[in-house]
Amino acid sequence: MPVSNDKNLVFEIIKKRRSVRKFKNIPVEDEKILKLIEAARLAPSATNRQPWRFIVVKSKELLLEISSSALGIINTWAKSAPLLIVCCAVKKSLLTHYMGERLSRIPYHIMDVAIAAEHIVLEAEELGLSSCWIGWFSEKKIRKILDIPPGWKIVAILAVGYKDESYTPKPQKRLPLKDILIIK
Ligand SMILES: Cc1cc2nc3c(=O)[nH]c(=O)nc-3n(C[C@H](O)[C@H](O)[C@H](O)COP(=O)(O)O)c2cc1C
Repeated sequence: MPVSNDKNLVFEIIKKRRSVRKFKNIPVEDEKILKLIEAARLAPSATNRQPWRFIVVKSKELLLEISSSALGIINTWAKSAPLLIVCCAVKKSLLTHYMGERLSRIPYHIMDVAIAAEHIVLEAEELGLSSCWIGWFSEKKIRKILDIPPGWKIVAILAVGYKDESYTPKPQKRLPLKDILIIK
């Protein structure tokens, strides 16, 4: 089944987005940072619990400490990121999160934060920024470095910045539609 090539705004951004692992040495403007978090704030969430919390790291010392000690060998590239957004989840309500998740076995609070994080990624693209998800990190070390409150779980970290022109994203490999879609 052919996918339409109409120029829709969101779809264009989705197609353009790639994980970028080398950034220019320039900061992300505060105005843009707030827009990214606003995009996350407007995300949907299970029973509208909004369990997301964000720690925006832009201090050079903290960025260096995190990238050199808490992101592992596969993420040494993150040293060039001028901004890390640590996306956390809180379990706010016993009923909707604890009971609901036990019954359904779906970790809604994690899912909610992941959706909000992808809002950030897409908004970054719209603002002329690039990003990369970081799922491989030492939660223990980051908790310590950033003094993260006990009830917050780190779900993902986003590296954000202006793409270095010398960086070429890896070829994008995706499963074909026929392998991922059933229409009944
Ligand atoms: C949940 C999640 C965790 C990821 N963790 C890492 C990571 O730790 N390091 C990294 O370099 N890329 C990481 N990525 C990026 C993926 O490798 C990337 O999205 C995938 O290879 C597809 O490439 P594309 O984003 O350029 O389309 C992660 C992506 C997701 C969604």
